[in-house]
Amino acid sequence: MSEIITIANQKGGVGKTTTTVNLAASLAKKGKKVLIVDADPQTNATTSLGFNRNDYEYNIYHVLIGIKTISEVILPTKVNNLDIVPANIGLVGVEREFYNSGKANRELLLKEALKPIKDIYDYIIVDSPPALGPITINALGAADSVIIPIQCEFFALEGLAQLLNTINLLRKSINPKLTIKGFLPTMYMGNNNLSRQVLEDLSLHFKDKLFLDKENRFIIVPRNVKIAESPSFGQSVIEYAYNSKGALAYIDLAKSILKG
Ligand SMILES: Nc1ncnc2c1ncn2[C@@H]1O[C@H](COP(=O)(O)OP(=O)(O)OP(=O)(O)O)[C@@H](O)[C@H]1O
Ligand SMILES: [Mg+2]
Repeated sequence: MSEIITIANQKGGVGKTTTTVNLAASLAKKGKKVLIVDADPQTNATTSLGFNRNDYEYNIYHVLIGIKTISEVILPTKVNNLDIVPANIGLVGVEREFYNSGKANRELLLKEALKPIKDIYDYIIVDSPPALGPITINALGAADSVIIPIQCEFFALEGLAQLLNTINLLRKSINPKLTIKGFLPTMYMGNNNLSRQVLEDLSLHFKDKLFLDKENRFIIVPRNVKIAESPSFGQSVIEYAYNSKGALAYIDLAKSILKG
């Protein structure tokens, strides 16, 4: 049985792509067969894994508009067990050219697209853009669960109510089985009061939705330079710096998810 996990937060720069790539690489490292779906026109997940525009002709956009099947656009990555459906800036066109046409089931285009390959993978991790627009709605419409990265900084929880509200609305309409897998505190700085405050707020309001490591401590992704550097080498931090604190946090996250 495969699981589709969407990484979402309409706030920009909170660690969605970083979580997508490094959680996927961690699960792959644990022997699971994993697919990343880059559903963000910024194409950061695709680029992070070392692909550039000349490496592929078709992408998720062509799947969503029905020109290609998902199998036709999947690329193997350099990481064992890890494949990717790349994105392209053209993906913004989905909104303009297609979504506005009022076509039926337009919130479920990604879900339908993934059906033929769903059971080939143990996990499908979907990266989404920093907006609650049609692409994110499709990413949430296709998901079994959602992980919400929360950057441990001022205003971290701002906008969260709107995201949770959207998730609730989707549960009542197109995706009744959608669950919140958890909140993931990111870019945590232990010596910073704001970071600690965000973690405290999260544990106050969403204690049972924080991930736990094997010693029952909250899993927190620290601000870590290896995480920030790895994309420029076209690698996940798991390959780039396996023993770094950043890599360990994502390995812990994968372990927690594998435990179920
Ligand atoms: N734990 C971390 N330590 C240090 N840098 C990080 C960490 N997590 C993410 N970053 C860096 O912060 C920036 C934003 O992260 P990322 O791209 O994952 O956010 P995002 O939510 O996907 O952004 P967007 O909303 O634009 O898609 C990137 O440059 C990334 O390398
Ligand atoms: Mg991103």
